[in-house]
Amino acid sequence: MGTLEKSKMQDLQDIIFTDTHKEVRAKAHEVARKYLLPQAAKHDHAHSYNEEAMSAAAELGLLGTWIPPEYGGTGVGILGLALVVEEFSKADPSFGVAFAVNALGSIPVIMGGTEEQKQKYLPGVARGEISCAFALSEKFAGSDAGGLSVKADKVDGGWAINGEKKWTTNGSRADLITCFAVTDPKSRSRRISAFLVEKDDPGFAIKKLEDKMGIRMVPVAETEYKDCYVSDDRLLGGRPGLGFKHSMMTLDWARPGVAAQGVGTAAGALELATTYATRRKQFGQPIAGFQMIQSMLADMAQQTEAARWLVYMCAAQADAGVSVNKTAAMAKCFATDTAMKVATDAVQVFGGYGFMEDYPIAKFMRDAKILQIYEGTNQVQRLVIARNLVKEAATHDYLGEFIPQEHQETFTEQELVTANT
Ligand code: CAA
Repeated sequence: MGTLEKSKMQDLQDIIFTDTHKEVRAKAHEVARKYLLPQAAKHDHAHSYNEEAMSAAAELGLLGTWIPPEYGGTGVGILGLALVVEEFSKADPSFGVAFAVNALGSIPVIMGGTEEQKQKYLPGVARGEISCAFALSEKFAGSDAGGLSVKADKVDGGWAINGEKKWTTNGSRADLITCFAVTDPKSRSRRISAFLVEKDDPGFAIKKLEDKMGIRMVPVAETEYKDCYVSDDRLLGGRPGLGFKHSMMTLDWARPGVAAQGVGTAAGALELATTYATRRKQFGQPIAGFQMIQSMLADMAQQTEAARWLVYMCAAQADAGVSVNKTAAMAKCFATDTAMKVATDAVQVFGGYGFMEDYPIAKFMRDAKILQIYEGTNQVQRLVIARNLVKEAATHDYLGEFIPQEHQETFTEQELVTANT
């Protein structure tokens, strides 16, 4: 690439990114090079948490990226979160989620917490002292997030939570678990409330740690609540019935983070594949010289770049306070489908070695799969996108005159009723 093209690209990034964005990205890059690339395989095989990398991220202030300055964060926002998560995921996709889940678990407090709740938890999250989880899913309530059965009953001075949660990422390591429970089973729209559960609350326990295909570095737990007592001040926002809205609003804000995991995973897989292709020789030359491999690499690069800018756009919209319900679903769906495709193709470029666990690329493919499933399956994302499109169609009246109206004489409703009786 010539100097002119390089500087043009720099200009585009300058328009989008502030110095603070670039600063957090550089810090994340430093952590990734020092603690993720060299240790990703080790933690994957041992199913062990990369504490060293998380401490380094905390020391550099990266856990305060999405937290407003008035609560101890750096206020770099959702775009900052996306840039950091992309850098991490490029080196180790499982660390991308280990980091981003802190945003997923604390965004409910930012969006819906009382002033006291924000003061109590957010500065600790920003310093990396309070690790978070988001407990929405249950055995029988995954995509149907409104169909929860974990319940919270009003008791003297607080609430008693009972039931089990499934697939709580970071569940066994989290200090703060935002738990969604049914407080009004008869209500349709105000059925659910969110509670700020702390790991030492009596009645809260880890039931099981999941054995997973990928993202093995981060623990995913089945959690159990047996008369788990939380005082009234742990009800998110101080009012019951807002839980479903809080969960949906949180997911809108957090999905750019999971989308950024997709971009990082794709970018990391692509870099490994191109590096391998330029070193692996067959038929007397590096396989990167063969057009079939070049075609694969070119497609992988286009898809990754398209996903990247969709994610940046969505994250920037979130920071601007624009509704991102549709674009967050698009970014999550497109970027994570891209991650799966690019990681699968990268394994193909590695050939037989790609299938072997002593090469780094197999892990990218295993880690990529969950991206299409968690934080809303990509089927749910398509449903959200389509619902938005249908709503927007109501504003397309100006197109009506260009769509011919067909007419045909047919039976009237009355005639049909008479014919059927
Ligand atoms: N923001 C604010 N309010 C919203 C909203 C949003 N984005 N989406 C919906 N709502 C409101 C609606 O306005 C409606 O309010 P009213 O009743 O007052 O009208 C109410 O919520 C119900 O909305 P819907 O009728 O659209 O709800 P639905 O039952 O049809 O469900 C859904 C919609 C999009 C499928 C939703 O259930 C969903 O997102 N499911 C996926 C859940 C999910 O992402 N789970 C992943 C959990 S996190 C995770 O993966 C774990 C981890 O640790 C990483």
